[in-house]
Amino acid sequence: MVFGLITLSTMVPTIIGLNQATQNTRDSEEERRDSARRQRCNLIAICDEREGTLEQRRQVHNAKVYLGPDGNLYLTKTPVAGFSPFNGRFFQHPLFAPDNMAGFVTLTEEEPPMLRWVFVDADTHECRWGGRQDSEGHVCGPYNWTKDEQRITLQGWEGWLAVRRPDDEEREQEERGLGIAEGQGIWRLYFDEHDDGADLHPDSQVLEICLQRVPAES
Ligand SMILES: *[C@@H]1O[C@H](CO)[C@@H](O)[C@H](O)[C@H]1NC(C)=O
Repeated sequence: MVFGLITLSTMVPTIIGLNQATQNTRDSEEERRDSARRQRCNLIAICDEREGTLEQRRQVHNAKVYLGPDGNLYLTKTPVAGFSPFNGRFFQHPLFAPDNMAGFVTLTEEEPPMLRWVFVDADTHECRWGGRQDSEGHVCGPYNWTKDEQRITLQGWEGWLAVRRPDDEEREQEERGLGIAEGQGIWRLYFDEHDDGADLHPDSQVLEICLQRVPAES
């Protein structure tokens, strides 16, 4: 039927046009996601209202993640000398497939500034930063973000913990030379890899937290 043929031939370019448009949308969505994954971020601890005591939440909720000079990651609202804010992003890690962006790095305030891996100590479950050799044999990924791209996951979930070990209180008071004011305090960042409490000392203070990405300014 002539009519049918005409219809078909006018339809075909439209279908191709639609596919092309869909493809373009998909490409630009991929580009957007790619550049979002490359965006360097600070990390902020988010603590549910049901976690811990009011005073503990006051110290932890909205506290920023810092790199300590000892190679560990900390959470606090009142950083001490030598702490620098976590300032990092997803990064290809050689352990995972190419183009994976499943590793995690941070800029440091070393002289000169360096990009360092962020990993979880396989023995202590404490979060650390360091060079390739420091991170070998530890948990280096896969890191990802939640569906809304707002929070960081590791090995597919948000097993982050804010921790104060029994020895932290004492040492902190020595270092600061003063009592700790309300809402202050320095917490350690842990990852509960096996969802069993991360082998922490029973007298530790522990709060489950999420890590929120906040675009870094520099
Ligand atoms: C990363 O997370 C996103 C959003 O939840 C998900 O769609 C994607 O499949 C995840 N990627 C990997 C490699 O697991």
